[in-house]
Amino acid sequence: MLLVHLSDLHCGPKFKEETFLEAIDEINALNPDVAIVTGDLTEDGLIGEFKEAKRYLALIKCKRLIVGSGNHDARTTGYLLFPKFFGNPSSVTKIDDIAIIMLNSSRPDRDDGEIGYNQGLWMKNQLENCKDAFKIIALHHHLIPVPDTGMERNIVSDAGDLLWTLTKYGFNLVLCGHRHRPWTWTLGKLMIIHAGTVSTDRLRGFYQNTYNIIQVEGEKIVASLKVVGGQECALNQVSIEAVNSLF
Ligand SMILES: [Fe+2]
Repeated sequence: MLLVHLSDLHCGPKFKEETFLEAIDEINALNPDVAIVTGDLTEDGLIGEFKEAKRYLALIKCKRLIVGSGNHDARTTGYLLFPKFFGNPSSVTKIDDIAIIMLNSSRPDRDDGEIGYNQGLWMKNQLENCKDAFKIIALHHHLIPVPDTGMERNIVSDAGDLLWTLTKYGFNLVLCGHRHRPWTWTLGKLMIIHAGTVSTDRLRGFYQNTYNIIQVEGEKIVASLKVVGGQECALNQVSIEAVNSLF
């Protein structure tokens, strides 16, 4: 299964339309099975921004589009608008032997993330139906700090609980966004991938607009980082440093 992982569109005043459309052309040429969008579709959770995000994301040609909510989407009562445009921000998608669980880590008017006891319980209940599946969890906020992002803040407040659940239940892959800085950690058998931002000029340091291309075959994950309109490299710590920097 080929999936693309994009994040942090930030439709609104800081959205780079040309960059996003270039990314869409590249993504559609890949003919992916699934596109996963880990939140911050909007800058301020405004209805006009949600309409824009809906219109732009509809340009992705793939069998399944899975969309999550970010802290920016929950601003200005945007958490009431999100389900009208994109459905429930917590969802389970099963494709063959792969289960993708999208969690909602955003909370109204808060920049930090939280899974919460009830959502954690919901997630564990979903796992009953996908015990033998290759398990992917997606959420907006990061679970482990990301380098070159300044002071650590806005992390998932109950990250320890979620990481333990993911480890205990044999999850294979975590996809998140939020920090606008691509990165990856491996924790035991669990690969954690942080997406950069695909289309805002709120870039961090020298980093460019990027998205991730991930091939899952059986238990094997082959992931690459794609600079929009630029290079593609293996998604590992050394390559990310070498390729993604402008200088
Ligand atoms: Fe963001």
